[in-house]
Amino acid sequence: MKTKKYTAIVLAAGSGNRMKSEVPKQYLLLAGKPLLYYALKAFEESEVDDIVLVTTPSHEEYCKKEIIDRYRFDKVKAIVAGGDERYLSVWNGIKAATHADYVLIHDGARPFIDRDLIARTMDVVAREGACTVGVPTKDTIRVVDSNHYGIRTPDRSTLWQVQTPQAFSYSMIAAAYEQVIAAGEYIPTDDAQVLELATGQKSKMIEGSYRNIKVTTPEDLLIANCYING
Ligand code: CTP
Ligand code: MG
Repeated sequence: MKTKKYTAIVLAAGSGNRMKSEVPKQYLLLAGKPLLYYALKAFEESEVDDIVLVTTPSHEEYCKKEIIDRYRFDKVKAIVAGGDERYLSVWNGIKAATHADYVLIHDGARPFIDRDLIARTMDVVAREGACTVGVPTKDTIRVVDSNHYGIRTPDRSTLWQVQTPQAFSYSMIAAAYEQVIAAGEYIPTDDAQVLELATGQKSKMIEGSYRNIKVTTPEDLLIANCYING
């Protein structure tokens, strides 16, 4: 029986610059429902105990009325304001989850997360303390210099594309974020990276799904529409 508390932190405070749409991408409609609905639904139906939603104050009302109340997402226990960068939004989410033993940090712009992957992440974080979901990269990755000349080709078998959720023991990730925020030296783009740089602690990579895309640019919406229909 599960005795530890698991909190999902769902991030939806970005402005979606690369999508180039008026409405932030997490509120664009996918099969008639806001993109954000899908991630919240997956966590609502999972074994997590509760959900912290991170959004901009100007969208709080919309999220409450049109998503949380409308679809009865009762596990959403807090809505907190995000920051100017993703890592600042994560930090605000972490501060609202002090009751958790483990947190699962998830991009609200990844609608294809499912209960099975959430369950596997919960399992592994309980054993390992830190768990990252990803997929082996399909393409060869080249490192380039500032003039875009290739300088290195890392061995592809060691390269994984990082997805979310990323799950952590609460005390570990809170301490790591606190340290990185206080130092203010760099802008991290990844939560396991924060943990690793602040504490040296490794995060276990588990295989997610090639469908678990982050809707980022307009063509991702076309792909998302295909996935949702089959
Ligand atoms: N995010 C957030 N707060 C921010 C930036 C991002 O909560 N200040 C969230 C986004 O809403 C998204 C997730 O983090 O669900 C992943 O970020 P990304 O795909 O980069 O979204 P945006 O930052 O909104 O898009 P862009 O980088 O194209 O502006
Ligand atoms: Mg961004």
